[in-house]
Amino acid sequence: MKVLVVGSGAREHAIATAFLNSKSVSEVTVAPGNPGMIKSGIKVEAISESDHNALIEFVKNNNYDFAFIGPEVPLIEGIVDDFKSHGLLAFGPNKAAAQIEGSKDFAKQLMQRHNIPTASYRTFSELNPAEEYVKKHGAPIVIKADGLAAGKGVTVATSVDQALNALNEIFVDNRFGKAGAKVVIEEFLDGEEFSLMSFVSGTDFWVMPISQDHKRAHDGDTGPNTGGMGAYSPVPQISEDVVKQAISQIVRPTVEALSSEGMPFTGVLYAGLINTAQGAKVIEFNARFGDPETEVVLPRLTSDFGEAIFNILTGKKPTFTWAKNGVTLGVVLASKGYPGKLVTGTPLPQISLNSSDQHVYYSGVKLDENNNLVTSSGRVALLQVNGKDVKDAQSKAYSILDNIDFSNMFYRHDIASKALKALQS
Ligand code: AMP
Ligand code: GLY
Repeated sequence: MKVLVVGSGAREHAIATAFLNSKSVSEVTVAPGNPGMIKSGIKVEAISESDHNALIEFVKNNNYDFAFIGPEVPLIEGIVDDFKSHGLLAFGPNKAAAQIEGSKDFAKQLMQRHNIPTASYRTFSELNPAEEYVKKHGAPIVIKADGLAAGKGVTVATSVDQALNALNEIFVDNRFGKAGAKVVIEEFLDGEEFSLMSFVSGTDFWVMPISQDHKRAHDGDTGPNTGGMGAYSPVPQISEDVVKQAISQIVRPTVEALSSEGMPFTGVLYAGLINTAQGAKVIEFNARFGDPETEVVLPRLTSDFGEAIFNILTGKKPTFTWAKNGVTLGVVLASKGYPGKLVTGTPLPQISLNSSDQHVYYSGVKLDENNNLVTSSGRVALLQVNGKDVKDAQSKAYSILDNIDFSNMFYRHDIASKALKALQS
């Protein structure tokens, strides 16, 4: 089969690699991709992920068997519906089902109607009643812009002032434009976070191994929130029982709810969960693979990825099998200043891998005038390694990175340390 992957990040690099490793797949192209992918033998095509018509033309003219949509924006803008209207297969939810990520209010209402465990909340479209609500409830409290805000729409306020500030930024300064027309105010939940992603076809679903992201920029979970600085899978401190509960009380009722309400979901459903004293609860849903979670989860797949996705798209039962042992770990390399003002244009140092199960997945890179890779945005690349346990994976990753001069770039030195600490206690 020929597969087109839509997107340009390290996530799409990992998805393309999983397709390339599939016996059923002979050719993989990523649009628009990035020049780092070319270095690992993947073809890229300079078509923007938002140009649905050009992507459709490309797939038609070159006889691709299906497209796999990586990022949320084209999904929320209805790319899967557009492909379908041309008789083409694209993996991902349609516009209706993608609302589960596109509107936090939509997701919260769906969970409320179906008793799916999540933080209690209220939605507001005006400043004054929102301020009253915050004053009444006190801090900590969580303020969320309703729409897509590139990971910047959430404020976990530790004081009432901070919460009121966030409300002012949204309603008065119009910080998020249309995405901030509504605001969800949520109860603060305490516990360890983890990500549970599933392949979904209507009411059928196949869960992936769980993983854990590291959202803060710096070691020890300090610094501002980012798109994610690293991840690992599985997460030993989250028990089987918690995952079972999350599947039966969250994943199953959610896909059944979307189906029964006339918006059946096909694609990857990402549940961002928190393990509270009352069990797992939903922090957020995404309508796609997580980034950087994908880069540590997909390398654990031992069955044919291309065949499974094609089977789902054509109404047949897919097979997914996963590595039973070991730990996969990924460390993000970011430009100095990320997630604030960036230093870019830095040449990428050579990263020497020690075995064929290690990868560098590229995201924010471009070619300079001498055809060398240089940094071009916040998250630049992710180093993925496998280890026999958390400690081994950590030492493999950092023995590669700690010997390289990453001036004008940085990375966290403590990916998976929470797991190590939990295992030691
Ligand atoms: P999001 O952008 O929705 O992934 O949220 C960013 C981060 O904010 C999450 O990963 C959590 O760490 C935190 N967060 C979001 N909602 C809550 C909540 N209700 N209680 C505690 N932390 C939250
Ligand atoms: N890692 C969080 C996300 O993909 O949204």
